[in-house]
Amino acid sequence: MIYLLLNRHATYYSAYKLQLEMALGAQKVTWGLLSYSQTTHSQFNADIINALVGVRLVLEPITQADSPEALIKATQACALESKPFVIEYTRIRKRVGRWPSRRLMGKLALQIQGEISYEKPQERFYLIESAERYYLTRLLHVPVWTKPSYAQRPHAYSAALSSELAALAVNAISKPGDLLIDPCCGSGTIVYEALQRGRQVKGYDHKWPWVIGARENLEAFGFSSLQDKRRFIAHADARTLTVNGDALIANLPYGRVVDIDMSRLETMLKQLKTCAKRFAFFSGQDLSELLTRLAYTHIKTVNLTIQASHPRYLCFAQA
Ligand SMILES: C[S@@+](CC[C@H](N)C(=O)[O-])C[C@H]1O[C@@H](n2cnc3c(N)ncnc32)[C@H](O)[C@@H]1O
Repeated sequence: MIYLLLNRHATYYSAYKLQLEMALGAQKVTWGLLSYSQTTHSQFNADIINALVGVRLVLEPITQADSPEALIKATQACALESKPFVIEYTRIRKRVGRWPSRRLMGKLALQIQGEISYEKPQERFYLIESAERYYLTRLLHVPVWTKPSYAQRPHAYSAALSSELAALAVNAISKPGDLLIDPCCGSGTIVYEALQRGRQVKGYDHKWPWVIGARENLEAFGFSSLQDKRRFIAHADARTLTVNGDALIANLPYGRVVDIDMSRLETMLKQLKTCAKRFAFFSGQDLSELLTRLAYTHIKTVNLTIQASHPRYLCFAQA
């Protein structure tokens, strides 16, 4: 079992969490902390975690308790031995403990056999304090999130999705090797993030300038052969699209900035339901009711609206 500590003050906290639940079967331990058991890998796999979005630290749980005193006792009972180490501290949600964290860290360090080294620690323990519990953990990995430099893309799009949200949706509903469909690909953000994550991808747009624009954007990111670009991006209208993928992600065109044309949106969603098994829709409105009416199942919606901006939702569903 390992712990995943989520990014602090994360704008898309609930979306990160849902992604980790859907992609890994991770479970909530407490606010900000998820756990998951690595059944298929005996060793912790950094590549899997690096592909995910919103994870701040990967930690191995050691012990936990509901008070500082109990945590010291529990740590003592673990009889830990360590290479030169430090103990770091992080707090999730508000603090209610009576003990100053520094004093508790000092007491915990006394329970670990080994030398404290601030300069060259070979192991890092993390004391995590939540409103109701104290956790002692060992740091396994700090994920690296390399954001693509979209400045390199020849075709920018004012309605483009952020790379983070595109990656999050790819992780949540597909696995490496799956065929992923983006029926409204615009500048190609989702297609690119999916290719980066080892998915097979097919992107479509009903406007030729965007078909060509997305192909050129892929080229700017190194997907250079003409054959490749054509293979990845094609011209089609999503309302009549016939394709058979494992998963489908759409940053829907109707309703974010311009007025919603519900009947066009409905026609599109009806058709898209025939194109894959699992879905992620970014939209200007909560689509839960509409998707239920169209007989989509297992619908989960996250509100991604950032203060003072246009409303935005992410709806996951199955056919
Ligand atoms: C919100 S943008 C998608 C932006 C894209 N995710 C990106 O990052 O650049 C919506 C796209 O849907 C396309 N679109 C609108 N109606 C469509 C339809 N019926 N079939 C296919 N594409 C459509 C538009 O041309 C536009 O490029």
